[in-house]
Amino acid sequence: MKNIAIFISGRGTNLQAIIDYFRQSTVAQVALVFSNKKDAYGLIRAKRANIPTFSFARGDFNTRDEFIKKLKKLLSEHRIDIIALAGYTRKVPPEIIQEYRHRIVNIHPALLPFFGGKGFYGIEVHRRVLASGMKLSGVTIHFVNEEYDRGEIIYQECVPILFGDTPETLQARVLEREHYLYPRIIEKLATGKISVIDNKVRIDGQID
Ligand code: GRF
Repeated sequence: MKNIAIFISGRGTNLQAIIDYFRQSTVAQVALVFSNKKDAYGLIRAKRANIPTFSFARGDFNTRDEFIKKLKKLLSEHRIDIIALAGYTRKVPPEIIQEYRHRIVNIHPALLPFFGGKGFYGIEVHRRVLASGMKLSGVTIHFVNEEYDRGEIIYQECVPILFGDTPETLQARVLEREHYLYPRIIEKLATGKISVIDNKVRIDGQID
């Protein structure tokens, strides 16, 4: 059984989709939920599912080292194999990235490498996608490396942009696909079906 840690900062609808998907799983379980924000609604979802929650941030510690030490301890004590960011708005410390290379994933509500990077989060992503006049947006699931939104792309799917879309209607259409795809990709990672060869990602089997 692989142990997954989910990092959140907010409402946690992706977290909910992951919790629901792995509830009956024999390959992986959500072992903990970590939030940098104490009032993140996702923490309530986790508690409801009897999943241990932890909430602290760099600002709660005197030094950066203390923060990282605590985070590392949390992950090792819970024997975490995979970290999935689900609306986590902070940068993951490089020390953690190094330790979990190709075992930390993130989901982005657009087609990277476009519409990503600093400032591209939440509804703002969809606002900018619509402003571009593009007819397609989508979902990107990628590994997390030291550069924001720039880790190797694991999986992408297009979502159509419809005439009359608002950032909110586009967000809802994209989010529905996020909820479907993210748990399935995490499962592929947990079962060793995702490999990285020369910065390119290979997935064995279908996503269905
Ligand atoms: C999602 O759109 C995800 O792609 C992005 O942040 C949003 C989180 O939403 N990284 P939720 O907290 O899972 O509802």
